[in-house]
Amino acid sequence: MAGDSQIRIGILSCSNIVRKVSRAINLAPNATIAAIASINNSIEETKSFAASNNFPPTAKIHSSYESLLEDPDLDAVYFPIPASLHVEWAVRAAQNGKHILLDKPVALNVSEFDQIVEACEANRIQFMDGTQWMHNPRTAEIKEFVNDPVSFGHLKTVHSCFSFAANENFLKNDVRVKPGLDGLGALGDAGWYTIQAALLANNFKLPKTVTALPGSILNDAGIVLSCGALLEWEEEGITGTIYCSFLANLTMEITAIGTNGTLRVHDFVIPFQETESSFTTTSSRACYKEHRVVNELPQEACMVTEFARLVGEIKSRGAKPDGFWLSVSRKTQLLVDAVKESIDNNLEPVSLSDR
Ligand SMILES: *[C@@H]1O[C@H](CO)[C@@H](O)[C@H](O)[C@H]1NC(C)=O
Ligand SMILES: *[C@@H]1O[C@H](CO)[C@@H](O)[C@H](O)[C@H]1NC(C)=O
Ligand SMILES: *[C@@H]1O[C@H](CO)[C@@H](O)[C@H](O)[C@H]1NC(C)=O
Ligand SMILES: *[C@@H]1O[C@H](CO)[C@@H](O)[C@H](O)[C@H]1NC(C)=O
Repeated sequence: MAGDSQIRIGILSCSNIVRKVSRAINLAPNATIAAIASINNSIEETKSFAASNNFPPTAKIHSSYESLLEDPDLDAVYFPIPASLHVEWAVRAAQNGKHILLDKPVALNVSEFDQIVEACEANRIQFMDGTQWMHNPRTAEIKEFVNDPVSFGHLKTVHSCFSFAANENFLKNDVRVKPGLDGLGALGDAGWYTIQAALLANNFKLPKTVTALPGSILNDAGIVLSCGALLEWEEEGITGTIYCSFLANLTMEITAIGTNGTLRVHDFVIPFQETESSFTTTSSRACYKEHRVVNELPQEACMVTEFARLVGEIKSRGAKPDGFWLSVSRKTQLLVDAVKESIDNNLEPVSLSDR
């Protein structure tokens, strides 16, 4: 389906996640894969990767990131590359007028991310990070519940966990445990999701203080494999905890407790089923309720659809970029940095009120 309404996306690298996201781009109604560049594979290998992942035959194969970013036939770029490379390539993409779908963690720290923010603002670029569960229709219903003053009331506390037991090969070789690559380990990966869950429960308000919990585990290179943190908001007594780990059994929980109701989600990151999911609530209004949500498209395709919609608004109607996702990414990165800082400083609380 070609045409003006199609947002043409280029992809950097043939990493594993590209299999999932390229399928999502194919499924999203107004997005199309228009190019791929891999610097670790030959043109022939990249061609066969493209074919085996059902890229449209028109998708161009580039042999360098530069040439993809300069391709005039692209609207946007998806970046499944290590976080240590984000600032360089995302800034260049923005300078070339390409909208940006960037995997998490968006940078190695917020001062790096601010260079990306600046380049996006200077070039009117739409930014979104690749956190798929945020675009599941279930997440919109969760948001509605925690913002309902009658059913939920005011948030008192939120707890979110994402852990999985990584195998030996992952713990030795994955980009997420390598200092030169995704240097933030479990915190920048699993922790990213838990932080966004905590933010969502409190209307994306930044906590005032972050304190790492005892018991973090770091590998020999100083990369976090497992950690937790306490979040405290300005309002009296509103707290949250996050826990993220590569070393514990698969768990993807959110529990949010309000004055009038409680929310529970057991599979918030990757729903147990691709096109149907649920969460439960208890509240004064309906004592116990199971909410079932059917999504026609898998959540990663919902993400691409929303990204393409925002880019389409800019491309066809001259709209301004929507800054919401950029601000969520920045807050998440600030919190990731704060947890790391607290771990590095003997669990000292880190104040965010001036950041
Ligand atoms: C796709 O683009 C068309 C034409 O611009 C628009 O009418 C339609 O709403 C878009 N669909 C989605 C899902 O964004
Ligand atoms: C952010 O990360 C970069 C790359 O590791 C580093 O050079 C820089 O000093 C860091 N900045 C801060 C403020 O920590
Ligand atoms: C909670 O529920 C009570 C009674 O059902 C209601 O009066 C109140 O406005 C609700 N909201 C909050 C924030 O407590
Ligand atoms: C971990 O969790 C899964 C599913 O939640 C469960 O089936 C499994 O038995 C648990 N334990 C181990 C060691 O995998």
